[in-house]
Amino acid sequence: MSIEVEQLHPLYAARIHGVDIRKSVSDSTIADVQDAMAKYAVCAIGHDAPPTNEQHIAFSRSLGPMERSTRKIAGTEARVPYPEIVDQSNLDEVGEIYADDDRRLAYKRANRLWHTDMSFYDVRATYSLLAAHAIPPAGADTEFVDMRAVYDFLPEQRKAQIEGLVVEHSYWHSRVLGGGPEPTEEERATRPPARHAMAHVHALSQRKSLYLASHACGIVGWPSDKGRALIEELLAFATQPRFVYAHKWRLGDVLIWDNLATMHRATEFDDRTFRRDMRRTTCRERALA
Ligand SMILES: [Fe+2]
Repeated sequence: MSIEVEQLHPLYAARIHGVDIRKSVSDSTIADVQDAMAKYAVCAIGHDAPPTNEQHIAFSRSLGPMERSTRKIAGTEARVPYPEIVDQSNLDEVGEIYADDDRRLAYKRANRLWHTDMSFYDVRATYSLLAAHAIPPAGADTEFVDMRAVYDFLPEQRKAQIEGLVVEHSYWHSRVLGGGPEPTEEERATRPPARHAMAHVHALSQRKSLYLASHACGIVGWPSDKGRALIEELLAFATQPRFVYAHKWRLGDVLIWDNLATMHRATEFDDRTFRRDMRRTTCRERALA
């Protein structure tokens, strides 16, 4: 194995040494990274300077299909003009910190709720790769939970209860839950809801995992109050401190996580004063038609 792995939490998460995604990475090293991801679910790769957008995309493409399907909302221009890159900064299209009344800032604050990326799509996200281009002096850790470990610790009765349940996920549910404004019809149309099994076998590790997020708005066939109550109870169980890994960012870090085996959330920082420039690519279960 050409890489070295340093585990960061008793249950999962690792820092990988011996890889530089700014260079061409051999197939055998890619395979090593994928093996580490199957085991640890969250892996950090450090660099003394962040990758370029092109380097970030090229490495991500070697880990899986990564087409995007989100439609643009009229009147918004991209600061990072690559369709493969999601701009997770607090910066507008000219690189200035968002104005107080910018709807995008309100919606981005919903990322502080526990979630898994793109669970509101039929074709789910597998890996997310987040690159740190600018980090604030304090705060802004990204926190994770390994949902396979959570599943392992669930009472047997609960495991039996959730077997076969299907959850509806809506992007707009979490935006409003996070304090954002009610979406317009045009905004809603860009991301309709999707349905996924609440518990599934994580193919890369063959371990059973929960698949939940703050996008989860109900359980199919259940009264909405009852469905939300069970989702909230499971989220509370999953986010106990013993399951949480908090990633403290270093400039140039590229953090990879597996959305089919984890949840994550952003944490607070002074987003009206400090620039936080994070750029994300996302691999999908399969290429989109
Ligand atoms: Fe996210």
